[in-house]
Amino acid sequence: MDGPVIRPRRLRQTPVLRRMVAETSVAARHLILPMFVREGIDAPVPISSMPGVVQHTRDSLRKAVAEAADAGIAGVMLFGVPDDEHKDADGSAALDPDGILNVAIADAVAEVGDALTVMSDLCLDEFTSHGHCGVLDERGRIDNDRTLELYAAMGVAQAEAGVHMVGPSGMMDGQVAVIRAALDAASHQDVSILAYGAKYASAFYGPFREAVGSSLQGDRRTYQQDPANGGEGVREALLDVEQGADIVMVKPGLPYLDVLRRVKDAVDVPVAAYNISGEYSMVEAAAANGWIDREAAILETLTAFRRAGADAILTYWAVEAAHML
Ligand code: PBG
Repeated sequence: MDGPVIRPRRLRQTPVLRRMVAETSVAARHLILPMFVREGIDAPVPISSMPGVVQHTRDSLRKAVAEAADAGIAGVMLFGVPDDEHKDADGSAALDPDGILNVAIADAVAEVGDALTVMSDLCLDEFTSHGHCGVLDERGRIDNDRTLELYAAMGVAQAEAGVHMVGPSGMMDGQVAVIRAALDAASHQDVSILAYGAKYASAFYGPFREAVGSSLQGDRRTYQQDPANGGEGVREALLDVEQGADIVMVKPGLPYLDVLRRVKDAVDVPVAAYNISGEYSMVEAAAANGWIDREAAILETLTAFRRAGADAILTYWAVEAAHML
């Protein structure tokens, strides 16, 4: 009996052969760790919806950033969690050099220098009393253009604190251009922009909202994208590149790998993906129940991002994965 002539299984016979023909790989240098630093606490606070992730104190952040550098990952993305009394309608603590995020940037840079790329979330939602990413007009709608002025000032404040790369995540129209112009005008030409190019209004952000103590009522559907739209994600990413983005990101990750691939094929800058809180917590919850092999699921997840076109991956597993790799 004649068997098949073409046998793809031949190249799967041994680990060393499988490694030789692997099309993609994940390394520590691709990974970026998102981190939360909270004002006014004296010990790290566990985030119950994200087992293994904490809100850091300024001190514990410094230690964790040093560990991230030792693990050889690419960078950290910092999110600030201010006291409720420091939240207001305009999110002004985001612009304050003594605001929690700005002091945390300075702490991180003092700790690791250039051994990591220190990145910061450039968005008002952690700082506004209403929890939106932008400021509101008198009718309660997002005021896109007044928000841009605040983003420009926030970017400069972060640059003054020493950040290497800012991550505008608010999905306001025109945000990359105004941030670039403000950084340049303040002689921060070397601060780069990782733009959240395609960012979708997602249910998978749920655990993050606990992580940052979000005050949000309602949703973000007038600025974050409709999950139904892939072409629009490409358009958003192209607009960010036109406006001066150095890297564009697609977020969330796993439910949007098609968008990631389309963006990767459409732009000529590096592309990042954000393996967000809900994606993290689903794996952790399933593993805690003994339903999946946790480490294998983590590595498969990260490999999927690389295969879909991600040059860099923001993931809460960054340091642990770096040790596994
Ligand atoms: C907004 C922001 C969000 C995340 C990062 N930046 C949440 C949102 O848009 O509500 C989510 C990250 C995650 O879920 O891990 N500044």
